[in-house]
Amino acid sequence: MKVNKAIFPVAGLGTRFLPATKAQPKEMLPVVDKPLIQYAVEEAYAAGVREMIFVTGRHKRPIEDHFDMTFELEVALEQANKLELLEVVRSVKPKDMECIYVRQAQALGLGHAVLCGQRLVGNEPFAVLLADDLMIGAPPVLAQMVEQFNEWRASILAVQEVPVEHTKRYGIVAGTLVNDRLMDVTKIVEKPSPETAPSRWGVAGRYILTPGVFHEIATQPRGVGGEIQLTDGIAALLRREKVFAYRYEGKRYDCGSKEGFLQANVELALDHPEVGESFRAFLRDLKV
Ligand code: UTP
Repeated sequence: MKVNKAIFPVAGLGTRFLPATKAQPKEMLPVVDKPLIQYAVEEAYAAGVREMIFVTGRHKRPIEDHFDMTFELEVALEQANKLELLEVVRSVKPKDMECIYVRQAQALGLGHAVLCGQRLVGNEPFAVLLADDLMIGAPPVLAQMVEQFNEWRASILAVQEVPVEHTKRYGIVAGTLVNDRLMDVTKIVEKPSPETAPSRWGVAGRYILTPGVFHEIATQPRGVGGEIQLTDGIAALLRREKVFAYRYEGKRYDCGSKEGFLQANVELALDHPEVGESFRAFLRDLKV
């Protein structure tokens, strides 16, 4: 079965980015000129996903507006003959892409947010993308994972090697290496201390999951931080099904943190066709 649906959990409170996220979603923070959520949606689209399911909460209206048609803006751009900009605006939502919204009334955790998408996903494999993890890869990271899914027909978790002192920030996996990029996972733990971490392979914000995970999440007690954790659902799933961890090729920016967000802006600005050159000159003159 093809991976045609993706869940974007965007109902978190974004406390690490206050006050910017007091009244606006962190997923709408722009990196150079595009909101984080658009990078994630474009990545899913490039991987063949056409049904985008957003799990939203309070203050998340701007996300719905962003993927909606902006009639007055399009007419104004057309009348002013600003056709390139018109194309930029229209390409935010390609015609063959569907956007569906479901509410998570209370931010009870990432596992709970994913569970809110259960009825819309049904009995199909699906992707989960956390938009605050901005991934740059060629091919895009989710496309690399879909390729793995098509080969193994099992859940695939994106992982990267993390510094030992950072294991507390991630879900950490352990298992048997299939090749230098793929691990047959036998264990996954949420945010272990460096002393108890079973490896240094940390899960990044991209998953392809089989629908069996919904039942597992639904039957988990609250985990780390009192939240319903996706990691705990995956830990239960791997007792019944194979789950693989895939060390993707590419770079991840943790845009839920101020530092990661700034790094993403600088690196993507340097590569930007419109501002890259002048921005590079600006940085050179800064003499930091
Ligand atoms: P984070 O752990 O980054 O939490 O969630 P957060 O609330 O967004 O941000 P901080 O830590 O307070 O700064 C990871 C992803 O899961 C979503 C978030 O929107 C984010 O994309 N999430 C988390 C939900 O959708 N619902 C939840 O209940 C929790």
